[in-house]
Amino acid sequence: MIDQAKVRVLLLESIHPDAVTRLEANGYEVESVRNALDEAELIERIDGVHLLGIRSKTRVSAKVLEAANSLVAIGAFCIGTDQIDLPAASRAGIAVFNAPFSNTRSVVELALAEIIALTRRLTEKNSGMHSGVWDKAAEGSHEIRGRRIGIVGYGNIGTQLSVLAESIGMQVSFYDTADKLALGNARRCDSLDELLESSDIITLHVDGRPGNAGFFGAEQFARMTKGAIFLNLSRGIVVDHVALREALTSGHLSGAAVDVFPKEPKGRGDEFVSELRGLPNVILTPHIGGSTEEAQSDIGNFVATKLASFVQEGNTTLSVNLPSVALPVQEGMSRIGHVHLNTPGVLAQVNSILADHKVNVEGQLLTTRGEYGYLVTDISGDYAEDVLEQLRAMDQTVRLRVLA
Ligand SMILES: NC(=O)c1ccc[n+]([C@@H]2O[C@H](COP(=O)([O-])OP(=O)(O)OC[C@H]3O[C@@H](n4cnc5c(N)ncnc54)[C@H](O)[C@@H]3O)[C@@H](O)[C@H]2O)c1
Repeated sequence: MIDQAKVRVLLLESIHPDAVTRLEANGYEVESVRNALDEAELIERIDGVHLLGIRSKTRVSAKVLEAANSLVAIGAFCIGTDQIDLPAASRAGIAVFNAPFSNTRSVVELALAEIIALTRRLTEKNSGMHSGVWDKAAEGSHEIRGRRIGIVGYGNIGTQLSVLAESIGMQVSFYDTADKLALGNARRCDSLDELLESSDIITLHVDGRPGNAGFFGAEQFARMTKGAIFLNLSRGIVVDHVALREALTSGHLSGAAVDVFPKEPKGRGDEFVSELRGLPNVILTPHIGGSTEEAQSDIGNFVATKLASFVQEGNTTLSVNLPSVALPVQEGMSRIGHVHLNTPGVLAQVNSILADHKVNVEGQLLTTRGEYGYLVTDISGDYAEDVLEQLRAMDQTVRLRVLA
C-alpha cells in the first residue's frame, strides 16, 4: 500500500504550476524539473518515484520502466503518448494518462480567428499598412455571416468548431468517416466530395491515423469551390503542400491558414522550410493551435487530477493503456486494484480466494481491454495478509495494489 503522505512525484519539462499545486494539495512530495531527461538520467532519478509527469520530449522506454521500482502511473501532460513505451507500461501494470481534450478550445478559437482574418484579407491589409499603403477597398473582403464552413473530421475539435461557427452565423456542414451526430443545425455530408463542392471554407480536423497521410491533395483542392479558403490545424502529413501552393498561386483558392507541417523545425533556431512561404493571404503559424496559457493550465489540472484519482481510488477513466474502471468510493472499505492478464476464470479465482478467507466483497468492477483486465474490489473488515499473497501469486496477476 502506498502511504498517501509519502507519494513521490517527479515532474519533468516545466509542467504547469497548477499541476504542482494540485498534487501538493494531496500531500504528495513533488519535484519539478525544468528540462527533459535522457534515458540514463531518468533511470537514475526514477528510483522510488510513484508518479512521473512528462511532456513530449522525455522518452519513457522499457529500460526506464524496468528501473522504475515504485512507479504506479505516468502522466503525459500533452496529447501524444508516442514517447512512452505503452506495451511495456501495461506489462508492468503502470497506468498512463494524457490530456486529449484540454487544448481543443484553443484550436477552435484560432481557426475562427483565421477564418475571419482570411475572409477579410487582413493579412494583405496588414502588410500593406506596414509598408505605408492605405488601401480601403472592399473587393474580396466578406463577412463570415451566412458563409458555408465545411468541417472535415467531426471529433472533439470539429464538433466544438461546429457549435461556435453556427453561433456567429455560419452555415455548417461536415464530413466524417465515422457515424457522427450532427450538432445544432449542422448538415452531415455523405462524401468528402459533396462537402468540398458545397463549402466556402474547408477546415481539416482529422486525426493522424496512417491512412490519412497525404489524403488531401490536388484532386481535393480541385473539387473545392473557386475562391474558397482552406485551413489545416490537424496534422502536417495529411496535406500535399505542393498541391496547396498550386491551388493558391493559380487563384483557385483565395487564402489558406496552416498550423501544422510535414516537417517541422526541431528547435527555436532552426529554419522553417515550406513551399507555402511568401504567399499572399496565407497565414502560417508554428504549430500553436493548442498553445495557450489556458490550455497549459487545463492540461496541468486535468492530468494531475487523473494521477491523484488513480493513486487514491484506482480510477482508470480515460487511461491510455489500462482498461477503464471507476468504482464509486464507499466509506470505510479497503480497496484492491488488480491488473491481470485477460484470460478466462480470473474473476472466479480472485473471488474464491476472498471467499476462502471469509472476506466480504462490498463492491466490485471488472473491465478488460485487449490482453489485460483490471478488477477493483471493495472489501469490508479485516483480512489476513495471506489474501494478498495468494492474489499476488496468481499466474495471471500483473500488479496488485492495495489502495486503502
Ligand atoms: N494544431 C494544434 O496545435 C493541435 C492541437 C490539438 C489537436 N490537434 C490535432 O487536431 C486533430 C483533431 O483533434 P481531435 O481531438 O478533434 O481528434 P478526434 O480524434 O476527436 O477527431 C478526429 C475525427 O476525424 C475523423 N476522421 C479521421 N480520418 C478522417 C478522414 N480521412 N475523413 C473524415 N474524417 C476523418 C475521425 O472519425 C474523428 O471523428 C488531430 O489530428 C490532433 O492531433 C492539433
